[in-house]
Amino acid sequence: MSALIKEIKKMEAGPQLVTAEGWVRTKRDSKTVCFIELNDGTCLKGLQVVADKEKFDNNLLSSISTGASIVCEGTLTESLGSDQAVELSASKITLLGEAPESYPLQKKRHTLEYLREIAHLRPRTNTIGAVARVRSTMAYAVHKFFQENGFYYVNTPLITASDAEGAGQMFQVTTFDLDNIPKTEEGKIDYSKDFFGKKTNLTVSGQLEGETYATALRNIYTFGPTFRAENSNTKRHLAEFWMIEPEMSFCTLEGDMEIAQNFLQYIFKYTLEHCEEDMDFFSKFVEPGVKDTIIHVSESPFVHMTYTEAIKELEKSKDKFDYKPFWGCDIQTEHERFLAEEICKSPVIVTDYPKEIKSFYMKLNEDGKTVRAMDVLVPRLGEIIGGSEREAGLDLLQQRMKELGLREEDYWWYLDLRRFGSVPHSGFGLGFERAVQYVTGMQNIRDVIPYPRAVKQADF
Ligand code: 4AD
Ligand code: MG
Repeated sequence: MSALIKEIKKMEAGPQLVTAEGWVRTKRDSKTVCFIELNDGTCLKGLQVVADKEKFDNNLLSSISTGASIVCEGTLTESLGSDQAVELSASKITLLGEAPESYPLQKKRHTLEYLREIAHLRPRTNTIGAVARVRSTMAYAVHKFFQENGFYYVNTPLITASDAEGAGQMFQVTTFDLDNIPKTEEGKIDYSKDFFGKKTNLTVSGQLEGETYATALRNIYTFGPTFRAENSNTKRHLAEFWMIEPEMSFCTLEGDMEIAQNFLQYIFKYTLEHCEEDMDFFSKFVEPGVKDTIIHVSESPFVHMTYTEAIKELEKSKDKFDYKPFWGCDIQTEHERFLAEEICKSPVIVTDYPKEIKSFYMKLNEDGKTVRAMDVLVPRLGEIIGGSEREAGLDLLQQRMKELGLREEDYWWYLDLRRFGSVPHSGFGLGFERAVQYVTGMQNIRDVIPYPRAVKQADF
């Protein structure tokens, strides 16, 4: 393997031979030379290769078209007039794989909708290539932040028998022949005959199992796929998405919020530092000014407000909403965005939601009506983080589960954490794709994951 193009571009001009490998983005001819923009995906802007027509076989040069893979050997010379320091003066070019005219990524602007149909080729475009690099960098920053702050990485199961959110939005996992499902004598489905001997589903969150490790190792985080059979065809929902879920023992909601802010700001800063070229690209062509926004957000404290305060603010502008806000209502995306975009003009952490609209495991406040929940809302997207302090009291948790019709025997191990050495503990979940969307300014969540799974969409 030769040097990466991102490294070659930083080398100095000189007589030593350099080899560059990649895919042709564009080819331009002048009378005497042929200019090839060669990209290997390691950076946004490729390397300019200059081939003197006299030195190369005409057939070779004419078969080098957009999308073809080639190896170029030559020397680096100072580039005149273009926006790069060096270019490769080719002495030898080898064509590895040609790309005929049917190559779908000919040089012209393609819509993101069209690119989704050729998701196997779209990482070769500027936009999706930049998203892929930023996504990888952010994933690394996630691990770096937690590893450097005393958190252990825990892998929670993807197949589970419990519903972590108690919201019933699960994909069932079964090996039953659906045309011939075993039934009990009473005519019910006989899950004892299914693969796991019980009804199972893909996980909606690793939180409950995460809590079991946090109450043993103190601070843990998960980072893995989660699945939700939500029938929402929106720009911010996927059926399969990646979630990061830290869980901290001896930590109340205040600590939870502090960690959430520090964590987000850390990954934003890390990405700004390590993806400068890509961030400039997003800021110029995808979401004007997104880089400055991320710089600003990574330095300023987030606004805090309770749900009750948020509803008061929203009620003042109720004419602006399709769904009229009132105390007790579930905050809609339009409300979340209004709070972050218009009222706070910054990320905002909303706390203390009514218990009815939140999950069963959240700690009840003394008012008996609200829970120690927190959501981080950001402009453009609304919620990117959902978290809470957990109910640590056995009685209160049992009572809450009863009210919601959750069966204790399904959660016996979860309740054991409250029976044996219960401690105050808290955590949150960051939707990784939403974070990538926020940083890159990409409008649709389906463009920040390689192969999106959503309602009626499971191609590739
Ligand atoms: O708010 P949620 O449902 O919280 C939980 O799952 C908790 N167990 C987290 C915890 O406390 N450990 O989901 C957390 C985040 C949301 O804020 C959102 O960013 C993202 O996950 N998310 C989705 N992202 C893409 N597509 C979907 N369908 C999503 N549903 C949630
Ligand atoms: Mg939520």
